[in-house]
Amino acid sequence: MAEEAEVVKNKQVVLKNYATGFVKDSDFIIKTDSTMSLKVPESSSKGVLVKNFYLSCDPYLSFLMQKSDSSLEAQFSRFSLGSTINGFGVAKVVDSRHPKFEKGDLVWGITGWEEYSLIAEPDSLFKIEHTDVPLSHYTGLLGMSGLTAYGGLFEVCNPKKGEKVFVSAASGSVGLLVGQFAKLTGCHVIGSAGSREKVDLLKNKFGFDDAFNYKEEQDLDAALKRYFPEGIDIHFENVGGKMLDAVLLNMRMHGRIAVCGLMSQYHQEKPEGLYNVASILIKRLRMEGFGVFDYLHLYPKFLDLVLPQIREKKITYVEDIAEGLENGPAALVGLFSGRNVGKQVVLVARE
Ligand SMILES: NC(=O)c1ccc[n+]([C@@H]2O[C@H](COP(=O)([O-])OP(=O)(O)OC[C@H]3O[C@@H](n4cnc5c(N)ncnc54)[C@H](OP(=O)(O)O)[C@@H]3O)[C@@H](O)[C@H]2O)c1
Repeated sequence: MAEEAEVVKNKQVVLKNYATGFVKDSDFIIKTDSTMSLKVPESSSKGVLVKNFYLSCDPYLSFLMQKSDSSLEAQFSRFSLGSTINGFGVAKVVDSRHPKFEKGDLVWGITGWEEYSLIAEPDSLFKIEHTDVPLSHYTGLLGMSGLTAYGGLFEVCNPKKGEKVFVSAASGSVGLLVGQFAKLTGCHVIGSAGSREKVDLLKNKFGFDDAFNYKEEQDLDAALKRYFPEGIDIHFENVGGKMLDAVLLNMRMHGRIAVCGLMSQYHQEKPEGLYNVASILIKRLRMEGFGVFDYLHLYPKFLDLVLPQIREKKITYVEDIAEGLENGPAALVGLFSGRNVGKQVVLVARE
């Protein structure tokens, strides 16, 4: 007779309201009455059941929480009311019907904001092969944020030694890595962030050549002229809006702009416009958007570059860990007021 599968309680973070404006704690419910059978159903040909350890708090999640009929809709699958939030995380395989994964494997990739997840299509799940680094790093440095920084900087911008690089939201999990990768390439790197503490971290811990607090600058164009008297070769855009408009005025001929994210725009009903688009024409700029999913195939190459740098302590990383699934919503909300310092992680269960 087939063995009965163990059934456990499964705490979940569920979408209660579509987000309007800034995402709020009250847009979520913590559901405590769900259960999960710890066996992949036989009907699933390649399902993987995982126990979640860490979740990655990422700004795009708030975008997926909005109800929208915009033309971008076809590109994204938004969360529906009552569904569990899905995002990147680190987990351990409890049961698998997929040939690539077996019980006990550590993995990172798309999972649920819950204690246990059944992943029906584990196509973007990676097996964790290197465990001599903290497992939580696979939410950021060795996961989505790291690959984003790598793809955006090296594939989109192709930096060269001596070039001048500007990074906005530079103390966030992507920005702090872009700056360090650019420094390792021999670039001159300046970042912007929203507090004196973060500016200090950028200069004294993450090795940026300089940094400024954008909230203390009345005139962003004047600030950029002060920090880049000869102009910017490469801009890594995490913020959009007024910052991007000021950057356009300060780019050098043949400069490159990687549009990674638009932190200042996600909650706007009507996005801010750009006025300095003529710079793109006059200075022969290339401005290119990208998504981390464009670079998943480069993950092994990325690991080859970054793992030795971590082991030799040439890359510094900071994590801001919120303990407990029930604190996930507040951690996500905090990204939009800059409450996080470095990568915002949610600890679901200890390894
Ligand atoms: N293209 C992709 O595939 C991809 C992948 C990952 C991330 N992203 C995007 O990349 C950007 C950075 O992500 P991340 O994970 O590094 O971020 P993060 O660690 O979540 O940090 C976000 C930071 O953005 C800053 N911020 C918030 N609101 C802002 C505003 N109105 N103006 C300026 N700064 C603001 C805050 O720092 P301050 O204190 O400095 O304000 C906050 O700490 C986001 O736009 C994200 O959506 C894109």
